[in-house]
Amino acid sequence: MQKSKIEIQNLVKTFWEGEKSVEVLKGVDFEISSQKKIGIVGASGVGKSTWLHIIGGLDQPTKGKILVEGEDLYAMSEAKRAQLRNRFFGFVFQFYYLLEELNALENVMLPCLIAKLPKSDAKQLGLEALQSVGLSDRLTHKPSQLSGGQQQRVALARACVLKPKMILADEPTGNLDQESGKEVLEYLMKVVEEAKGSLMLVTHNKDLLGNMDETFELKDGTLQKVPGTF
Ligand SMILES: Nc1ncnc2c1ncn2[C@@H]1O[C@H](COP(=O)(O)OP(=O)(O)O)[C@@H](O)[C@H]1O
Ligand SMILES: [Mg+2]
Repeated sequence: MQKSKIEIQNLVKTFWEGEKSVEVLKGVDFEISSQKKIGIVGASGVGKSTWLHIIGGLDQPTKGKILVEGEDLYAMSEAKRAQLRNRFFGFVFQFYYLLEELNALENVMLPCLIAKLPKSDAKQLGLEALQSVGLSDRLTHKPSQLSGGQQQRVALARACVLKPKMILADEPTGNLDQESGKEVLEYLMKVVEEAKGSLMLVTHNKDLLGNMDETFELKDGTLQKVPGTF
């Protein structure tokens, strides 16, 4: 059996608005093993982004634990958690979040520089990552000079440049037309496989889930397996 990479235990997330509380996640247990592609579908506002942020070390759970290779993500130091966000996880969001003043290659090199790799190594890895997403001819273009689909492919290259074990994708095609969405999804599968990583993709769009190994629905604060998938 393959070693489990991430274990989620009794995850609860409650938001407070004044006196009123909303329990978005109601004690979820989940396990993500190596090299698995997991899709989670759910209506707008059910807590998909919240779920992904907590797993990726971006937002504290109210209760419960996230164990990353056996280590409690929210019991470790902030520095260690930041290191995992940089090296273990790769993030892809709906709105790319590229730095406008940097060109494509510089954007993709950033995680390598944060990881304190020598600049020449960062450049080499950046070039390879951009080649993987078919953008070797757009290295010096700024985000504003790229189409939405191309910007998201730069974001994919940035997410995967350090070969993360776990890629977290939040509505990665949500801002794209159908054709470039499809293309981005294909590149996403490719870079996840090249990194030999796992993928957790959350979306409101069931059509994106065809390529996943397992599919779940997030509803009423719990995750349920979608029938017909494993
Ligand atoms: N920082 C916050 N403060 C209060 N409520 C929040 C906060 N973030 C999210 N929520 C609420 O939690 C619920 C789930 O939000 P979200 O995870 O963004 O849903 P989804 O990504 O599925 O659309 C929503 O009702 C939202 O209003
Ligand atoms: Mg969301």
